[in-house]
Amino acid sequence: MSKNISNLSGRIGLKNNLFQKMSERSLNSKNDQGMKELADEYRMGVSTIHGAESFYEFLRPAHREKKAFVCNGSACMCAGTQEPLKKKLKEKLGDDKVGEMFCLGYCYENNAFHYDGKNFAGKDINKIDQIIKGQDIEQDKFYSKSFSSTSFLMDDKISDLDQFKEHLQKYINFDKQEIIKSLLESNLTGRGGAGFPTGMKWDFCSKAKSKKKYVVCNADEGDSGAYSDRYLLEDQPLKVIFGMIICGYVIGSDEGVLYIRGEYPKSIESINASINALKKLNLLGEKILGTEFSFDLNICIGQGAYICGEETALIASIEGRRAEVDVRPPFPVTEGLYKKPTVVNNVETLAAATGILLNGSEKFSAIGNKKSAGTKLVCFDSFFNKPGVYEIEMGTPMKKVLYDIGGGFKEDVKALQIGGPLGGVIPIYEVEKLNLDFQEFTAAGFMLGHASIVSIPKDFPMVEYIHHLFEFTAEESCGKCFPGRLGSYRGKEMFDQLKSKTSKIPLKLLNELLVTMKKGCLCALCGAIPTPIMNILKYFGDEMKNDMVQEN
Ligand SMILES: Cc1cc2nc3c(=O)[nH]c(=O)nc-3n(C[C@H](O)[C@H](O)[C@H](O)COP(=O)(O)O)c2cc1C
Ligand code: SF4
Repeated sequence: MSKNISNLSGRIGLKNNLFQKMSERSLNSKNDQGMKELADEYRMGVSTIHGAESFYEFLRPAHREKKAFVCNGSACMCAGTQEPLKKKLKEKLGDDKVGEMFCLGYCYENNAFHYDGKNFAGKDINKIDQIIKGQDIEQDKFYSKSFSSTSFLMDDKISDLDQFKEHLQKYINFDKQEIIKSLLESNLTGRGGAGFPTGMKWDFCSKAKSKKKYVVCNADEGDSGAYSDRYLLEDQPLKVIFGMIICGYVIGSDEGVLYIRGEYPKSIESINASINALKKLNLLGEKILGTEFSFDLNICIGQGAYICGEETALIASIEGRRAEVDVRPPFPVTEGLYKKPTVVNNVETLAAATGILLNGSEKFSAIGNKKSAGTKLVCFDSFFNKPGVYEIEMGTPMKKVLYDIGGGFKEDVKALQIGGPLGGVIPIYEVEKLNLDFQEFTAAGFMLGHASIVSIPKDFPMVEYIHHLFEFTAEESCGKCFPGRLGSYRGKEMFDQLKSKTSKIPLKLLNELLVTMKKGCLCALCGAIPTPIMNILKYFGDEMKNDMVQEN
C-alpha cells in the first residue's frame, strides 16, 4: 500500500510535492475543501490524503485555532519560563488562543514562543504589543565561535556567491572517486545521530543503478537543546547547499530537497534566499556553469512532527504519507525517496563535507580518532555563563568544554541531558570524566547524539523530568510499532498518577516496561527513551525513593 502511494506521489515528484500541497490546502481551508481535487490529481483516495494530513500537529484544526505557541522543550522547562510566559500571552490573546510547540531552538535565552509565523524569545515578550501589531522588533542573536585549530563549519571560505562559484567550478569538474576517497579518509561520520560513515553512504548510492536519484538534507532538528543546524541553515546556508550539490554530482543525482522543520521560519527564509540567488547565477539548475551536470533544489516544510527527523519517516512525509517509520532494509541508498536511491544527510554532515573538501581531509582526520573525527558543533543552554553554539574538536575533555568554553554554570546544576530527549541524563561528576567522543559517551551508558546540552538545575525534581520525557514520547511516537505506541503511554500514565497523587511508581513494572521498549521498539524514538530514564533511576534513585514502591 505505502509503495503504491510512494509511486503515485513520485509520478508528480518534488516540484509539485504532495506534502507541500497537502499542507497548503489544510492551512488555507477550514474544512475538506479541495481535498477531493488533490486526491484526484494524485490518483489517490480522499481517505489517504485525510489520513496523512491528520498525522501532523500543525494541520490539525485545534492547532490552527491557536494564535501563539509556547516552546515546551526541555531547556525552557528547566529554566522555568514556560508558565509565566503562557500567562502573559493568555492575558493578551485569550485563554484558548495559546498552544505549545516542541523546542523552537532558543535554548540559550528561553522564554521562547511562536506568533504569526515568527519566533520570539528572551526579552521579546516585553514587546508583545508591537509583535501583535506586526511591527518588526530588534532581537538578540545567539553567540557562535569556533574553538578548533582549523574551522570546518564556521570559517568564511564559502560565505559569498563568488567564492561559491569558484569552488563549485572546481569540484563539478573533479574526479568523483577522488571526492569519495577524500570523505572516506576524513573519517566523517553522520552528525544526525546514527553515525554512519558519510563517504561510504555516498559511495553506496553512487553505485546504485537508477536514472533518478535524490539528495535529501535532513533539517528537522527537533532535539531540545539543539540549535546547531539552525545556526548552519541561517548563518552558513551556502556550506550546506554546496555539500548537497557535490553529493548530487558524486552520486549521479539531478535533484535534492531540504526538509526544514516549520518551527524554524528564519532557516526556511535563509535557505530560500540562497537557492534563488544561486539559480539566478546558474549555480543551481540546468547545465550548471556550462557543464553537463544539472542539479536543482526544493524545500519541504515540516508540519510539527518530531519523528520526521527519522530518515524513513522523513521520506514518507515528503511523499505525502503519514510519517510512520519504515522497516530497513531496504536502506534509502538503494530504495529511498519515491523508491529511488537516496542519500539522506544531516545539515551538519553536509556542511562538514564542504569544510573537508575546502580544508583537506587530513586536517579533519587528524582531530579526535577514527570513529569520532573532526569537529562538532555543541550547543549550550542558558544555564551556562557563555551560552551559544561552538565548534569544538572531537576528543576535547568535557571539563574543558563545560568550564573553559561554556564558562561554567550560573547556578547549581545536578545533571546534563546531552543529545536531545533520547540522549543520556548524566550527573555533572560523570560528565566531567568524559571526552567529547561518540564512542566514549555510548560506552559509559549515555549518547552524545547531536551534542546539545540541557542543564537540569539542582532543585528540579527528577520525577518531573521523567514525566516530561514520557509525555514527549507519547505525544511524538508515530504509532507504527506496538511497544512504542503503547509503552510510551503506559509510562506517561504511571507518572501522571504520581503527579495526581493517585499512586506511587511501581518500580518493578517500570523497569519491565523500559526493558521491553528498549528491546522491542522499531526505532530510537521510543526505543532510546529508556536510556535517560534508566540513567535517572541509577544516579538519582535516592531523590525519588519516596515516590516508588518496589512491588507492582
Ligand atoms: C527519532 C529519531 C529522530 C531523528 N532526528 C533527526 C534529526 O532531527 N536530524 C537528523 O539529521 N537526523 C535525525 N535522525 C537520524 C536520521 O534517521 C538519519 O540517521 C540521519 O538523518 C542521517 O544523516 P547523517 O548520516 O548525516 O547523520 C533521527 C533518528 C531518529 C530515530
Ligand atoms: S519506536 Fe515509536 S516512533 Fe519508532 S516506530 Fe515505534 S512507535 Fe513509531
